[in-house]
Amino acid sequence: MKLNRIVLLSAMLVTALANTTFAQSLRSAYDGAFLIGTALSTNQILEKDPVQAALVAKEFNALTAENDMKSSLLHPEEDVYKWEIADALYALAEKTNSKVHGHTLIWHSQLSRFFREKKTKEDMIAAMTKHINAVAGRYAGRTFSWDVVNEAVEGDGSLRKSVFLEVLGEDYLALAFKLAAAADPKAELYYNDYSMTGVEKREGVIRMVKKIQESGAKIDGIGMQGHWGLESPTLEEIETSILAYAALGVKVSITELDIDVLPNPRNVSGADISQSAQNTAALNPYVNGLPDEIKAAQAKRYKDIFALFLKHKSIISRVTVWGVNDGNSWKNNFPARGRTNYPLLFDRENKPKEAYYSILELRKK
Ligand code: G3I
Repeated sequence: MKLNRIVLLSAMLVTALANTTFAQSLRSAYDGAFLIGTALSTNQILEKDPVQAALVAKEFNALTAENDMKSSLLHPEEDVYKWEIADALYALAEKTNSKVHGHTLIWHSQLSRFFREKKTKEDMIAAMTKHINAVAGRYAGRTFSWDVVNEAVEGDGSLRKSVFLEVLGEDYLALAFKLAAAADPKAELYYNDYSMTGVEKREGVIRMVKKIQESGAKIDGIGMQGHWGLESPTLEEIETSILAYAALGVKVSITELDIDVLPNPRNVSGADISQSAQNTAALNPYVNGLPDEIKAAQAKRYKDIFALFLKHKSIISRVTVWGVNDGNSWKNNFPARGRTNYPLLFDRENKPKEAYYSILELRKK
C-alpha cells in the first residue's frame, strides 16, 4: 500500500514537472490560439545541431522550409526532383508532432529555369500541372497548408509581370489553386505576400483573391509576411489589413515574421530581394551587441503585435517567425550584406531573448 502511494506520488510529481517545463514553450503557451511556426534551413531540417533541434521541437509546432521546397531546389529540371531535404522536413514534423507548411508552389523567384522557357499557354499549363501534381501530390495528406502562389502582386496593386502572367494572363492564379486542390484536397491553400499592409497593395490582393474565388477555385487563406520594423507598419495598419483580408471569408496567417532593428536604407521596404544597399558602419551599428533599450523596444513590439494577433485569434491560424535564431536570419544579408541583425526570438547562442519572454508572458494564466 505504502509503496503504491509512493509510486503514485512520484508519478504525479513527474507529471507536474513535465507540465511546468512544457508550459515554458511557445507551442504549448499558444495552444488553443494559433500555431507557432518557424522556418528551417537545410542544416536545421537535417538536425545537424542538436541544441537547435531540441529548441525547434520544444518551441514550434509548424515547420516551413526556408528554401528547400522552392521550385529551383526541389524540381530544378523538368524531369529532376530532389526530394531528400523535403522528405526530411516531413519526417521531422511527424517526429515532433508538428505541421508542415509547404513553401511555395508558384513563385517568380528561386524559380526553376524550365518554367522560363515555356512560351505557349499549352506548355506553361503543362509545366505548372506537372510541378504542382508532383510536389503537392507527393506530400498530399501530410501538408497542413501550402503557399500556392507567392508574391504575385506589386506595391501599386497591379499583378507582377512574372513569366506566369506573361504567358497565361491572370488565369494562372486560379489555375494554380485548382491544381493544388486537386493534388492535395485536404491541405489549406494560401496566397502569401510581403508589404501586405500597404493600402494599394492590399486593394490589389483583395481584387485578385475575389477573382480567384469567382473562378470557383478554393482559396483558404492569406499569408501576411511579417518582415516588419520596430515601428512600421503601425498596429492599426496591421489590424486593418488582417480584418480586410478576413472579410473575404478566408483565414489569415502571419507567415514570415521578423522585427528588423537596424537602420533601414532609404527606398527599401518589404522583401524584394532585387533591392540592395551598401553595408556601411552607419547601417550596421550593433556589431558588438544590441543596446538594452533596443532589446526592450523589440520586446515591446513583439508583445504588442502578438497581443493584436491574440485579439484576432479566431481569424489567425498560424504565426511563423522567419528563422530560429538571430544568426540564421536572412535579415543579416538584406538589404545590405554582412550586417549583424537581431530580428528573431532567440539569440545567436539559441538563448531566448526578451522578445521571447514578452510573448510568453501574454499567455500566462
Ligand atoms: O545555398 C547557397 C550556397 O550554396 C551558396 O554558397 C550561398 C552563397 O550566397 O548561397 C546559398 O543560397 C542562398 C540561400 O538563401 C540559402 O542560404 C541564396 O544566395 C540566398 O539568396 C537565399 O536567400 C533566401 C531568399 O528567400 C531568396 O529569395 C533566404 O534564405 C530566405 O529567407 C528568403 O525567404 C523569402 C521567402 O522565401 C519569400 N518571402 C521573402 C523571404 C525573404 O526574402
